[in-house]
Amino acid sequence: MQTQQKYINLTHTIKLPMVGFGTYLIQDEDAPALVDQAIRAGYRHVDTAEAYGNENGVGLGIKTALAELGISREELVVTTKLWPGNEAWGLPAKTYESTIESLQASLAKLQLDYVDLYLIHAPFPQTQRLEQWKALVELQRQGQVRAIGVSNFNEGHIEEIKAAGLPLPDANQIELHPWSQKPDLVSYLTRNNISIIAYSSLVPLSSWRAVEGQASAKTDQMRADGADADAPFKVMAKKYGVSEAQILLRWGIQKGYAVLPKSANAARIRRNIDLFGFEIDDEDMAAIAKMDRGEGVAWHTGDPTKAT
Ligand SMILES: NC(=O)c1ccc[n+]([C@@H]2O[C@H](COP(=O)([O-])OP(=O)(O)OC[C@H]3O[C@@H](n4cnc5c(N)ncnc54)[C@H](OP(=O)(O)O)[C@@H]3O)[C@@H](O)[C@H]2O)c1
Repeated sequence: MQTQQKYINLTHTIKLPMVGFGTYLIQDEDAPALVDQAIRAGYRHVDTAEAYGNENGVGLGIKTALAELGISREELVVTTKLWPGNEAWGLPAKTYESTIESLQASLAKLQLDYVDLYLIHAPFPQTQRLEQWKALVELQRQGQVRAIGVSNFNEGHIEEIKAAGLPLPDANQIELHPWSQKPDLVSYLTRNNISIIAYSSLVPLSSWRAVEGQASAKTDQMRADGADADAPFKVMAKKYGVSEAQILLRWGIQKGYAVLPKSANAARIRRNIDLFGFEIDDEDMAAIAKMDRGEGVAWHTGDPTKAT
């Protein structure tokens, strides 16, 4: 089955499918079947990370799907992320050398020769940030990763890379949804030709992060708003004849972002990629533009202009 898809030019040669399959909170043992299911449903972009502890399972799912569906490795975009360490949490920061080793470990778990996109997961305040970035540049030069990027970086962190005279990231993966629109950061990334990958697009759903231990200070308010019968996304879902999740994901696509819906539910996996048969009209896009509540619920990276 080949679902409709749109692409972002990640580099001159890499087209990033705008809808990817997110795998955060998918257990390693569940990942083979779910990733296989997602690829069967038409996803050609899979997002994992060293920190998710599921690269083995994700790799198995990819291997099975490619073999059974007769898809070539080149048709799939696979992203993984370096866990950078965090001195503030007592976790040693990865150095240049251990960053190179981390990618080798990720490739071995994924059973892949290369990944399409390798990201630094977060810009924890540490001395090794630029060393890690230099290692990613080298890995790209060697062809072990096709594109390189960052995640949860703000303008200040990217300016740090610029000031060091190093190549800029191909992408920044950040929390983006109608309640956290980050207009300044989005405009900065666009000006600098850095592709934007949105995560946690479904935060405004009442079911968001129902898993115990994953709630944040804003979760209760978000659940309450999402559960309201007159909640704006429920009204729009009805108007366009789609699900609330499809509205939230389609919003990201219309803003020009790649999106990464995660689901462990077969029907949702299929529906979450079905985003190209409708368009949110200008009036509704303008209404959503007014819903920004500032910071998201995942990472907080401090003053947006400072590389703290
Ligand atoms: N770089 C980073 O720091 C970072 C941070 C967070 C996430 N990410 C990436 O982005 C991906 C997506 O973010 P996320 O996992 O935080 O959140 P998400 O995809 O926005 O939401 C996932 C949650 O929504 C539910 N869901 C999925 N489809 C649904 C639908 N159609 N209707 C109702 N509920 C639905 C899922 O439950 P079910 O599974 O039960 O369907 C799950 O609880 C991650 O998996 C990960 O790959 C990256």
